Amino acid sequence: MTDSAPQPGRRFNRRQFLSTTAVSTVSIALLDRADAQDAPQPAAADPRAPVATTLRINGREQRLVLDARTSLLDALRETVGLTGTKKGCDQGQCGACTVLVDGRRVLSCLTLAAAVRGEVTTVEGLAQSDGTLHPMQQAFIDHDAFQCGYCTPGQIMSAIACVKEGHAGTDADIREYMSGNLCRCAAYPNIVDAIKQARGDMKEG
Ligand code: FES
Ligand code: FES
Repeated sequence: MTDSAPQPGRRFNRRQFLSTTAVSTVSIALLDRADAQDAPQPAAADPRAPVATTLRINGREQRLVLDARTSLLDALRETVGLTGTKKGCDQGQCGACTVLVDGRRVLSCLTLAAAVRGEVTTVEGLAQSDGTLHPMQQAFIDHDAFQCGYCTPGQIMSAIACVKEGHAGTDADIREYMSGNLCRCAAYPNIVDAIKQARGDMKEG
């Protein structure tokens, strides 16, 4: 038996007390760690797991079950079947996928569908039920503001927001605030003319 070991009938000295306490503390810590390692670990969330979400699109509620990573663009085109909104770059650089959420322009390729709150408006939601076109749609036709037409839905959605934002006062403003919408056919002068026409028509409407 060593000097430091506690002996029956003998009082602890300070050194014996401290060494006994230290050994106990380390033992408890090791047991806790072993328990923690044995405990079942929570499963990592599967990013592909479907999520249920409700989108309000062009005045109608759509209940969808989507991969949580689905973009608003893919949800519109592939799940809801609204293919008017176009996929150009799918990287937020061309503006072809522009839609409105509560009246504000949004690049749908960079927006998670499940995160959208608010009313989504796509090009399919612009015309009236009797077929009357939105003044911006009519102006694009009147001014021949497209060639292949691929960028046109995004241009029209962006142009409507541009007018409503008050950024269509001058040609320079229109070019500046429409600069996120690219047109490979370079219909830019006609697009500016169309926006100027629609600007007046939208005010009257
Ligand atoms: Fe979204 Fe090009 S497809 S910005
Ligand atoms: Fe062809 Fe704009 S009309 S890309």
